[in-house]
Amino acid sequence: YGTQAINELGHLTIGDIDTVDLAKKYGTPLFVYDLELFYKRAKSFIDTFEKASVKAQVCYASKAFSSIAIYQAAAEAGLSIDVVSGGELYTALQAGIPSNRIHFHGNNKSLEELELAFNERIGCIVIDNFREIQLLKELAARKEQKMDVILRVTPGIEAHTHDFITTGQADSKFGFDLNNGQADRAFKELQHDPFLKLQGLHCHIGSQIFDSTAFKLAAIRLIEKISKWHNEEDYEINVLNLGGGFGIRYTEDDEPLEPNIYVEELIRTVSEEIKRHSLSMPEIWIEPGRSLVGEAGTTLYTIGSQKVVPDTRKYLAVDGGMSDNIRPALYGAKYEAAIANKILQKPAEFYTIAGKLCESGDKLIEHIQLPEAEPNDILAIFCTGAYGYSMASNYNRIPRPAVVFVEEGRHQLAIKRETYEDIVRLDLPLTIGRRLKL
Ligand code: LLP
Repeated sequence: YGTQAINELGHLTIGDIDTVDLAKKYGTPLFVYDLELFYKRAKSFIDTFEKASVKAQVCYASKAFSSIAIYQAAAEAGLSIDVVSGGELYTALQAGIPSNRIHFHGNNKSLEELELAFNERIGCIVIDNFREIQLLKELAARKEQKMDVILRVTPGIEAHTHDFITTGQADSKFGFDLNNGQADRAFKELQHDPFLKLQGLHCHIGSQIFDSTAFKLAAIRLIEKISKWHNEEDYEINVLNLGGGFGIRYTEDDEPLEPNIYVEELIRTVSEEIKRHSLSMPEIWIEPGRSLVGEAGTTLYTIGSQKVVPDTRKYLAVDGGMSDNIRPALYGAKYEAAIANKILQKPAEFYTIAGKLCESGDKLIEHIQLPEAEPNDILAIFCTGAYGYSMASNYNRIPRPAVVFVEEGRHQLAIKRETYEDIVRLDLPLTIGRRLKL
């Protein structure tokens, strides 16, 4: 992936830095982000819109990995930021992201979160449900403040990697149903609001999607609705937001498209449909998360104990696990790995990579062939940049790993490793229990 290479010691390098040195300097488990690859992916999305002279915003769906430094890198790369909570919004503001580049998502935003969004005058709020319309109307009127809003709809198309299904009424906790009158009612409630300006329609049809068919179908459905409101209500929708979900290559079995191909195909479909309905071209917004940061992240672990289950398998345990990557346990997600200090050695043994947490399901890789592994070897698991750190926990009171960014021979800490002091920082001593005399 990206700038990964092998140096004269036979070690894995990322951004021209020896990962074994990184493990020594920063400790393990360690997330290493290849900044160059992140920029490259962002540029590929953005440039494709520019080349086609299509007005667009590429918004980084930061739930995939949120931190001050990644927000700053995203802004540098020309991305807008999609946040889904007060915490992400606060982090983006702390990073100095211009507030008009921030979009706020979520199916149950609190009044406090919405107030923060208003006070900071963020770029737009993606409205999810009728209660939110009410909250926002009251808030905007009370503050006498305008706000751009976008309606999230469910078009009845769901994509699951290769396949997609279309259902009359998608069962989803998110958004207004496009096909049963909900979206039209929401439109009516916003159409004449003096403060809330309905700018666009949004949908997100799934994640880790490998082809563009489902995206195109969703675009077609949304444009039908835009056309209806144009013809019947004389209302101009300016933004078509098609969400995220562009797939990446975790293993050889995954066959995603390149970012530019997804975008080219989307632009083609949208242009055709717009022409067919005699509409003017809206801005196209997309919200990639995984496809911007996933392949850019690698996790380094130190190998510790082994256990042989005769005739069955050999467990190789590392110093992290489901506390820094819940995806294998939660979704059966698959990953590739290598021993960073033995890249040139021949694969010898089959191993199951286990974590160190007290749970049998804490396995990171079910079955992988690696060179003979020994304690203190450094295991690199690839493609962990999305939904790894951001879904990390302190289960078993394990401190969260550190995160470093590398680029062209330079490295920097982006998130410090948690300490035991951090672990007990919010704990309070017992004051009301019975003092048992032992
Ligand atoms: N926009 C919206 C409205 C979303 O709900 C999501 C993801 C995205 C954009 C970004 O999707 P991406 O490009 O990253 O696929 N924890 C799961 C993924 C959950 C995705 C939730 N929504 C995982 O680890 O696979």
